[in-house]
Amino acid sequence: MDSQPRTTANDPAITLETEGLILLPGQPFVLTEAERDLVSPRFSDGRAKNISLGPTGGVRGAAPDPEGRRRLADLMSRYRTWAEETVRDLAPGYGPHLERGRTSLRTREVAEGAESKRRDDRRLHVDAFASQPTGGRRILRVFTNINPEGVDRVWRVSRDFEGYARRWADRIRAPFPAEAWLLRTLRITRASRTRYDALMLGLHDAAKLDDAYQAAPPGEEMAFPPGASWVVYTDKVVHAALRGRYMLEQTFYLPLEAMACPAASPARILERITGHTLV
Ligand code: SIN
Ligand code: FE
Repeated sequence: MDSQPRTTANDPAITLETEGLILLPGQPFVLTEAERDLVSPRFSDGRAKNISLGPTGGVRGAAPDPEGRRRLADLMSRYRTWAEETVRDLAPGYGPHLERGRTSLRTREVAEGAESKRRDDRRLHVDAFASQPTGGRRILRVFTNINPEGVDRVWRVSRDFEGYARRWADRIRAPFPAEAWLLRTLRITRASRTRYDALMLGLHDAAKLDDAYQAAPPGEEMAFPPGASWVVYTDKVVHAALRGRYMLEQTFYLPLEAMACPAASPARILERITGHTLV
């Protein structure tokens, strides 16, 4: 039996929820010899940002070749299983609540940028998805740099979610009464956009569009070498991907009830800042 008491100092769930990011020791996920050739742009359809696998199957963004698609699906599903075990080991309390999102294989060079400021992940932000409101659920992601050429994935990271939120919170309009219903009916969103989702998306867009903020961003650079894996609450850690290519990523959603430390969640911090009930 584990004789150590679970305290804030040694409970990874609490560290993850308060710090927002944990770097796993060593090189915990290794590609097999047979998987290595999949780490190449030639399996992409050339249009999508990433190749991805849905939680119930279905590959997106891959070239039409059926054999390549099957092998990509196998790699991503192996990664998903590994990521799920990793999170369960770190935070056993999350186990029954862990909901799978998409798995992605990111073959693009990050430094090449994106078609708009809003979509440009080189600009500092906290994750919030326009079409996929979480309704207050947390976004937990597991990343692994699988670059075969020794190239780091480099991020800028700031742990000051509160500073990030306070910078724009008063300027973000509350949704009008029927807005959530309308967005859902028009299928602009896949679920109802709660007041929390609207604020998170407003902050995401305000941050990415704020040139003065992006020109003198807070935080520091972190380099993740090939083989490194890291687990991040990307709905709380302020982050930007600066450079690097070839990465695997698994998204999970977790309800607030699963949190070891609910007061550290973005929903509770935003409620404190705005004085409104958001979820
Ligand atoms: C992001 O979540 O903003 C991008 C992370 C990455 O691609 O490294
Ligand atoms: Fe992000």
